Amino acid sequence: MQQTATTPFHLDRLDPTLMNSTARSFADRMAARRSVRQFSPEPVPLDVVEEAVRAAATAPSGANLQPWRFVIVTDAERRRRLREAAEAEEIEFYRRRAPQEWLDAVAPMGTDWQKPFLETAPVVIVVFEVHQGPHTPKPYYVKESVGIAVGVLITALHLSGLATLTHTPSPMKFLNEICERPTEERACLVMPVGYPADGVTVPRLTRKPLSEVMVRR
Ligand SMILES: Cc1cc2nc3c(=O)[nH]c(=O)nc-3n(C[C@H](O)[C@H](O)[C@H](O)COP(=O)(O)O)c2cc1C
Repeated sequence: MQQTATTPFHLDRLDPTLMNSTARSFADRMAARRSVRQFSPEPVPLDVVEEAVRAAATAPSGANLQPWRFVIVTDAERRRRLREAAEAEEIEFYRRRAPQEWLDAVAPMGTDWQKPFLETAPVVIVVFEVHQGPHTPKPYYVKESVGIAVGVLITALHLSGLATLTHTPSPMKFLNEICERPTEERACLVMPVGYPADGVTVPRLTRKPLSEVMVRR
């Protein structure tokens, strides 16, 4: 049998009252998170963004292969190109390729082909899935792993006082060239990051009640 190297692990045992207040206050803080589509151009502390990525990179992943790459784009010219290329895809998508069903589903968001936030937000994180390539192994459960990591990233940004949006231009091939990444890396999300613009508004929406999303057996 193969020997597995192990290391001790410790998790603080909390008093049940403290456990409850911690869980409750975390849920309350997360309930205040919203996707933002209008950003202030004000610069943000890059170390905070890097710490959020560091947190994301601690996420569990299939066979611990960590099949993610987070490209932090701050250069204004590159963000301009990002916007230009994303809008070129989006205008095609919204006007021709998008099925009516999808257009109906996103109608309450009030979104269209224009993506000014890619240029206004001081930081754009482009998230790539890392597939098999000359220097990278075949990964397992890539979507699940990257999805969990992005969940941690969004949480870390929000709790640090930064807003973001999970934007998915379609298709995303153009991102390899703009981010100078190899073909085994496939972009899955474009996340503008920054402070919300003054007077920003977000679509009014409701969350499903806990009784609907959680089932006890
Ligand atoms: C996988 C994924 C893709 C999304 N793609 C887009 C997008 O391309 N453009 C956009 O404006 N919002 C996008 N969103 C944001 C959702 O519309 C938003 O999360 C949802 O309406 C709930 O709003 P909230 O994030 O403010 O709670 C996406 C969200 C997810 C999770």
